[in-house]
Amino acid sequence: MNELLLIAGIFIAVLIFFRQFVRGAQCKSKTKLHGKTVIVTGSNTGIGKATAVELAIRGARVILACRNQVLGEAAVAVVKRESGSKNVLFMYLDLASLKSVRSFAQTFLKTEERLDILINNAGVYAQGTTEDGLGLMFGVNHIGHFLLTNLLLERMKECAPSRIVTVSSYLHNLGNIDFDCLRTHKEFGMGDSFIDVFKIYSHSKLCNVLFTHELAKKLQGTNVTCYSLHPGAVDSDLGRYTNKKIRRFVYRPIAAMFFKDIEAGAQTTLHCALQEGIESLSGRYFSNCAVQKVAAKAQDDAVAKKLWEVSETLSGLS
Ligand SMILES: NC(=O)c1ccc[n+]([C@@H]2O[C@H](COP(=O)([O-])OP(=O)(O)OC[C@H]3O[C@@H](n4cnc5c(N)ncnc54)[C@H](OP(=O)(O)O)[C@@H]3O)[C@@H](O)[C@H]2O)c1
Ligand SMILES: *[C@@H]1O[C@H](CO)[C@@H](O)[C@H](O)[C@H]1NC(C)=O
Repeated sequence: MNELLLIAGIFIAVLIFFRQFVRGAQCKSKTKLHGKTVIVTGSNTGIGKATAVELAIRGARVILACRNQVLGEAAVAVVKRESGSKNVLFMYLDLASLKSVRSFAQTFLKTEERLDILINNAGVYAQGTTEDGLGLMFGVNHIGHFLLTNLLLERMKECAPSRIVTVSSYLHNLGNIDFDCLRTHKEFGMGDSFIDVFKIYSHSKLCNVLFTHELAKKLQGTNVTCYSLHPGAVDSDLGRYTNKKIRRFVYRPIAAMFFKDIEAGAQTTLHCALQEGIESLSGRYFSNCAVQKVAAKAQDDAVAKKLWEVSETLSGLS
């Protein structure tokens, strides 16, 4: 009997320790945000919602920029309740439409005075096409955020010191930037097999890292800094469009055991948004609340510059 209890005790202790390990590093910053305004894209669910709650707790005016009015308004109520703040609002933003990005920016600049932190969090993992004929993942994960950031940049300079945080992924390591492909068709990769989607998603996440790399250069001397990051493997709803059976019987059990919950998944985003003294690391990539080295292709000056120019054309900025 005693042995059984002991074994059960050890098992539970190991499990607790393991889940603690899975949670990873926590954002240690004590920064408060009273009087500051923050935008979090894709914040009706997942990592974005958890991020919004924490920023609201710290006193920020938090704008949930989401593509679904009903889900967005519902999230506002949840974020208000969980943070105890009333200073939370929904604004319509569909990153799969350049028109929507422009009208969001216009409305925002007209109705809001400040922008202190922009969190480019929204992401999609599914094949498809945007309103403008771009690949869905390339269009939403990269181009939409590229345009959004550029349209809000002046305001961020006026409010400096300010920060732009872009949620990338470890999978950027498996991506590459094929400019020939972008020239011939704007989809940034074809096909919708499991491996195609996986690859194109990875390309889009490499764009996030290179975008941040180039943006930091353009922002030198402005006191606006920028960071990209991997949130960890997070038990969110990102895989909602993948095969239901695989999701239920393979992904869910693995995620429940080995993936972070969304609060833990928000920690590196929060670190990049809040941590004092990381300004000299502008342009770098973070994971587990610490700056990380990236592969040569994720800090290639020439590719980053060219991607910027191509993105200007595709987003209609130039
Ligand atoms: N989960 C992970 O393990 C993991 C790992 C590495 C990186 N990431 C990155 O983390 C970020 C957050 O993802 P998550 O895991 O929290 O996934 P999630 O639960 O699926 O949340 C993604 C959010 O993005 C929004 N979104 C999708 N398409 C949009 C569009 N066209 N316009 C505006 N918003 C749009 C979604 O809105 P709807 O609800 O309306 O679809 C949702 O709010 C993403 O950038 C993802 O690539 C996640
Ligand atoms: C940036 O911040 C430093 C330190 O606060 C300040 O001295 C400098 O004037 C700022 N530069 C700009 C361009 O705002």
